[in-house]
Amino acid sequence: MRQAGRSLPEYRKAREGTTMMEACRNPELVCEITMQPVRRYGTDAAIFFSDIVVPLAAVGIDVDIVPGVGPVVAEPLRTEADVDRLRNLDPCDVGYVTEAIGLLTAELGDIPLIGFAGAPFTLASYLIEGGPSKDHSKTKALMRSRPDVWHALAGRLAAICGEFLRVQIEAGASAVQLFDSWAGALSEAHYRRFALPHSTAALTGLAESVPRIHFGVGTGHLLEAMTETGAEVIGVDFRTPLDEAAARLPDKALQGNLDPAAILADDEPLLAETDEVLRAGRAAKGHIFNLGHGVLPHSDPGKLKLVVDRVHETTRR
Ligand code: CP3
Repeated sequence: MRQAGRSLPEYRKAREGTTMMEACRNPELVCEITMQPVRRYGTDAAIFFSDIVVPLAAVGIDVDIVPGVGPVVAEPLRTEADVDRLRNLDPCDVGYVTEAIGLLTAELGDIPLIGFAGAPFTLASYLIEGGPSKDHSKTKALMRSRPDVWHALAGRLAAICGEFLRVQIEAGASAVQLFDSWAGALSEAHYRRFALPHSTAALTGLAESVPRIHFGVGTGHLLEAMTETGAEVIGVDFRTPLDEAAARLPDKALQGNLDPAAILADDEPLLAETDEVLRAGRAAKGHIFNLGHGVLPHSDPGKLKLVVDRVHETTRR
């Protein structure tokens, strides 16, 4: 899950003297960082080390990842002319991704690699706001005032993220995850009108090749709508109990959903909460245990190991 590596001393060491974007373009470093949590925790899958803004930088957007802030875009996109300048992704733009996945699949053996992309709404929010936003106000204003410009932008982003996922699958990823991290900021009506068609487009055409996971934060009110993207697995954040999500989505496997803040608690409440997630997850058609959003930077790796071991002890019995 998101920025998981940050809490590891070996990650901080590997990243010394290299910016996040440089690291994402260095296949050997990508391979090393992707392997670190797998080696340390013995997880059942690996998540590719990259970032949702990597394909945007690859098509020429001036975007940087500022530590403690997140993605920052030098010249935000807000007009029809800005959108017209956004070109499609060519697999050659991200040759380093293909190369890194080749190294990784050789090293991982039977352990599946999960590739990913950011969904059009979440990417558009960064591009329109110019950086992280709490209220997504400029994005929402554009949607309402210039739906034509919005749909043109989101349509181009759908093509870019679809292509980015395709590159990862062709290079050997065993599953892909589409992160619509900020979709929870939308009402269901606006999600259906402005985000869902573009996320669906991004995931279409990948069908039948590998399982597709779709995740959002604060999307308890959108779970049914999110299934309409066609994703086989729905990620559920920590706010919605998995048995409740399973009752609403009987045909979907679920991923999630331990509260990342639980990692900072004492062992006893942490393990009790882990057990509860496992119990509630049994109601689902399938359950991939994970956190219900990203690992917090100050998490103790020992606590994460405790959780992974508990999940293995319980599910491998
Ligand atoms: O866990 C992993 O390392 C897997 C790879 C991964 C990263 N980002 C690496 C990263 C994944 C899957 C992401 C996804 C991502 N990036 C999302 C979607 C998931 C989610 O979090 O909801 C989003 C919204 C982003 C954008 C982004 N990138 C943010 C908000 C930040 C944090 C900025 C900060 O410092 O607080 C990043 C930076 C980032 N992406 C880091 C990593 C390891 C930390 C940067 C560093 O180590 O310098």
